[in-house]
Amino acid sequence: MSLCVQFRYTVRSAQDIIILKRLMCIHFERIKPELQCELRRIAEDIVAPGKGILAADESVSTMGSRLKNIGVENNDNNRRKYRQLLFTTDKEITNYISGCILFDETVCQKADDGTRFIELLRQRNIIPGIKVDTGVVNLMSSLKEGTTQGLDGMDKRCANYKKEGCHFAKWRCVLKITQYTPSYQAILENANVLARYASICQSNGLVPIVEPEILPDGEHDIEKCMKVTERVLAFVYKALSDHHIYLEGTLLKPNMVTSGMQNKNRACTEEIAERTVTALQRAVPPAVPGVTFLSGGQSEEEATVNLNSINAYCAKKPWALTFSYGRALQATVLKTWGGKDENVEAAQCMLLKRAKANSDASLGKYDGFMGKEGSGGASLFIADHKY
Ligand code: 13P
Repeated sequence: MSLCVQFRYTVRSAQDIIILKRLMCIHFERIKPELQCELRRIAEDIVAPGKGILAADESVSTMGSRLKNIGVENNDNNRRKYRQLLFTTDKEITNYISGCILFDETVCQKADDGTRFIELLRQRNIIPGIKVDTGVVNLMSSLKEGTTQGLDGMDKRCANYKKEGCHFAKWRCVLKITQYTPSYQAILENANVLARYASICQSNGLVPIVEPEILPDGEHDIEKCMKVTERVLAFVYKALSDHHIYLEGTLLKPNMVTSGMQNKNRACTEEIAERTVTALQRAVPPAVPGVTFLSGGQSEEEATVNLNSINAYCAKKPWALTFSYGRALQATVLKTWGGKDENVEAAQCMLLKRAKANSDASLGKYDGFMGKEGSGGASLFIADHKY
């Protein structure tokens, strides 16, 4: 404001106008120090050593496919009962899980005894988070690429989620690797929409988890995935900078750098670690407190082992590197439960074990104790995965 006013009286030449425009580029108000402090604390608590996120934000239709796989009807009560199983797991879970991403319908749901789910999470020191995007839509004239929608009315929704006790949010964008994609159009658009989402979250006191997921579908090799990951992340951080996002109050949720699922000569875990860390070093500012990987169709055990290799890999790593897994934390849990009350305890036991394995992996200390227990070795890949 003051700069503009000063220059209104001093601009004399075209050169002055150029200087004025340049100055305006850096003339912006930072968010208030108290809000910075709050966002930073939330983000740092989520990525505290040995902790990660349980992504339980499956939409109604995605939850429907998960329930169908175990022969359970997709209705409100079955979805509620399954989430109740997750959120009433023994308080030992506090040691491994710091945050849980919810889906809208879950925010106000209650356990059988009337306790709100959000309260059950709080009792376990787990910070509630919320998925705020409303899904992927096609980008016109692209090669079946998409962008993510949900910005309309999001400000109000975020204010309400904060009131209900959520402190972070998730928005998933999807990019596809094929011969000609991701396109410039898709990379630019998805980076920008992630930045707009992040700014709405931060102004409402929610830490935005920025998720530009590069799908694992395809025959591409790991080098291609690495190049695309670097480029996509570079665009994302440029957009976040353009929107004056307070990076210390954000988290990144990327894919690991891997070969495509249909590649016949897939890279080993050590190469995944080296390339993932290198891609992050090239594109993610050290101001970002943490990187919380998605599991992206890896088996439960692969996702744990790869996270462990990433943390065991010796390199400059200025961020916490941990998990925000959906399928890779829940596959065995769902199967063990099978919709039956008598299996709840056994399913919760599997959740605790897999959460501990991932906690160990986030410290680079996983000794393989879980192995392929349950469905640990089964691929969880779903083509063109929706959430
Ligand atoms: P997966 O771990 O199942 O890939 O999902 C995590 C997630 O939140 C995707 O948005």
